[in-house]
Amino acid sequence: MGSRFSFPFMVLTIVLMIFSCLPCQAQLSSSFYDNTCPNALSSIRTTIRSAVSRERRMAASLVRLHFHDCFVQGCDGSILLDDTPTMTGEKLARNNNQSVRGFEVVDDAKAEVESICPGVVSCADIVAVAARDASVAVGGPSWTVKLGRRDSTSASRNLANANLPSFTDSLESLISLFDSKGLSARDMVALSGSHTIGQARCLTFRGRIYDNASDIDAGFATTRRRQCPATGGDGNLAPLDLVTPNSFDNNYFKNLIQKKGLLQSDQVLFSGGSTDSIVNEYSRSPSTFSSDFASAMVKMGDIDPLTGSQGEIRRRCNVVN
Ligand code: HEM
Ligand SMILES: *[C@@H]1O[C@H](CO)[C@@H](O)[C@H](O)[C@H]1NC(C)=O
Ligand SMILES: *[C@@H]1O[C@H](CO)[C@@H](O)[C@H](O)[C@H]1NC(C)=O
Repeated sequence: MGSRFSFPFMVLTIVLMIFSCLPCQAQLSSSFYDNTCPNALSSIRTTIRSAVSRERRMAASLVRLHFHDCFVQGCDGSILLDDTPTMTGEKLARNNNQSVRGFEVVDDAKAEVESICPGVVSCADIVAVAARDASVAVGGPSWTVKLGRRDSTSASRNLANANLPSFTDSLESLISLFDSKGLSARDMVALSGSHTIGQARCLTFRGRIYDNASDIDAGFATTRRRQCPATGGDGNLAPLDLVTPNSFDNNYFKNLIQKKGLLQSDQVLFSGGSTDSIVNEYSRSPSTFSSDFASAMVKMGDIDPLTGSQGEIRRRCNVVN
């Protein structure tokens, strides 16, 4: 077969292939570790499954960890870095401090992967895969995770303070923050649907349950006040989805329609604004929510990755090499 093509033609073809592939350098690919670490994905899955079976909430924490990683200088594992004398990182930023969880699980997954393929799989990719495996472990949607992210060599508390949404944000600020990350209002509503699992601290919803002007179901407010006093008890937990806090379903949206969103930033998605129709749609159709959530997670995982020779593959996720 090959004899039909002349040598110069083949050289030209190869050169063209190389050039046409230069832009692909920035592309993530689901087959990235197929040759360099074929068992990476199954190894991560084993670690995540066992962590979630030990503690169901860990699924929620891992999904959120990926979100908070991606929104601050891209999906680059920056959230995992500890502060150093010369670097003030993201862990203690306003919306992460005492709140974001799952670091030990990522460290466990990394240690397992390092034992089979040292220096190959990035922490940023482990976080992305962990989020998918966590969703699946609690009955949520699955998606194909694109891979090839590299790890940052720095992190910034200031950037985290500026780029992570707050529980008091208005609908307009949420839409514009997500838009600045290339995510639509529909993506934002779908992704907020991950509040179908996990917990929030009293500190984050006290304002809403004690403000008589809140757009909140009165009985729900009374119930939540029992475990969340007007002062003190900042760390007391309540489920973000009061109906099925441990399984990934569309009850979150049904709660919003009944004015039983826990956070103010939840209820603004259904308060007479532009996203009401999306909430209605997801509350009626679990399958639409599920497929929109999966595609929005893939989109979120694509935010500004480091690729090629940028960044590094950290040996330990909490420190740069
Ligand atoms: C739309 C803007 C959002 C705001 C204002 C917001 C805010 C919050 C807050 C305040 C908590 C409770 C934290 C605590 O008490 O320490 C929380 C928990 C959580 N968030 Fe969000 N969130 C948003 C979007 C998202 C997105 C996009 C995701 C994932 C794709 C997500 C996933 C989660 C999960 C799973 C939890 C529970 C975590 C756990 O139990 O450890 N959130 N969020
Ligand atoms: C993190 O939270 C703890 C406990 O609320 C607090 O003492 C500490 O000052 C906070 N750190 C930062 C950097 O805000
Ligand atoms: C809210 O309503 C309760 C009972 O109806 C009342 O005791 C309380 O003073 C009100 N709070 C505010 C801030 O108006």
